[in-house]
Amino acid sequence: MSNGSTLEIVSVVGARPQFVKLAPVSRAFEHVGCINHSVIHTGQHYDDRMSAVFFDELDLPRPQFDLGVGSASHGAQTGAMLAKLEDCFLKRPPDAVVVYGDTNSTLAAALAATKIHVPVVHIEAGLRSFNRSMPEEINRVATDHICDRLYSPTPTGMQNLANENLDSRALLSGDVMRDVVMHNIELARERSRIMQTLDVGKHQFGLLTLHRPINTTPDALQELMILLDDMARQHVELLFPVHPRTRAILNEKHFIVPSSIRMIEPLAYLDMLQVVEAARVVVTDSGGLQKEAAYLRTLCITVRDETEWTETVEMGVNTLTGRDADNIQAAFSAAMINTDRFSDLVMNEMKVQFGNGDAAELIARDLTSWLMTHSAFPVE
Ligand code: UD1
Repeated sequence: MSNGSTLEIVSVVGARPQFVKLAPVSRAFEHVGCINHSVIHTGQHYDDRMSAVFFDELDLPRPQFDLGVGSASHGAQTGAMLAKLEDCFLKRPPDAVVVYGDTNSTLAAALAATKIHVPVVHIEAGLRSFNRSMPEEINRVATDHICDRLYSPTPTGMQNLANENLDSRALLSGDVMRDVVMHNIELARERSRIMQTLDVGKHQFGLLTLHRPINTTPDALQELMILLDDMARQHVELLFPVHPRTRAILNEKHFIVPSSIRMIEPLAYLDMLQVVEAARVVVTDSGGLQKEAAYLRTLCITVRDETEWTETVEMGVNTLTGRDADNIQAAFSAAMINTDRFSDLVMNEMKVQFGNGDAAELIARDLTSWLMTHSAFPVE
């Protein structure tokens, strides 16, 4: 303990989904009382709509440092973060570093801390797509293996960690993203005006997001736009908040997106919750959105061949289609017929698999007692 009574804990975040995960965790750290929690922003995401808006809306602690790393190739981006984070941790060594999810910011922070013997803990540990061509899969596996404490959102994640002999460091926490959805959905219903702004009616549209490298090559994007235009014309208009990666590729290739797919700017968090809940169907390659859709009782079509959130597929609320035309057609048709927004049985199973919305509280309590037992200077 840094001053004998307070634990100095640093969270490192950098990309949009990590700002969301930070929200319940920083609140839970505050409740514990003996934690002095600070935040470092790597700067991986830097546009206001990808970053600042989340800090404002979710009332996140202002970052103590913003490393301003920005966009670059994987090696250059991760390397720049590594050097700058090491510098921060050496200047003022924390009792623990907390990393979230599977981005380059996650791996850089875990590596920087563990190399100088600062304990590192991983929130959202144990997820696997078993597809090593995804940068996120490399980040997840490497991060789990160098972290000292692992918090897994699901029993499947725990099993994956056991298969890699990491279970002695792991605890089943539940999904912190479930905490955030449960905490903010009422607020979203009250405050968000996005449905009026976009002039869309409940269940009258689908929500589309695409940002994975595998779906954002010019050829893949073209293929998807043709398939999804067809679906939108047959079924419902698709709202498409465009990730900067995807927008850059569309602009570079002077790509014309069909008018049945309505391009909009990236959405702030409360607007996103409102739109996910009101959508007839979500079509995505995002990890987080697959669960947000499930928690808000909206069917999801995942345009990937595999998912880390296999439970959602097993529960029948998410369909993996890849970019296969027949699969996409079948999944859309099923989603249009299905007007039942999930049975109580499914919602109960969701609780079993992803927790009850108190994952962050559990993590804060466990981390405090774990650090007290494992710290070099245990409390008397
Ligand atoms: C990253 C994560 C991914 C996560 C996603 C959430 C990695 C390897 N990937 O992907 O796991 O699901 O964040 O969004 O860490 N850009 C901007 N402004 C920004 C941010 C990005 O214009 O604020 C553009 C740049 O052209 C950049 C590209 O988007 O090169 C990709 O950004 P990057 O952070 O490298 O990866 P993401 O695709 O966002």
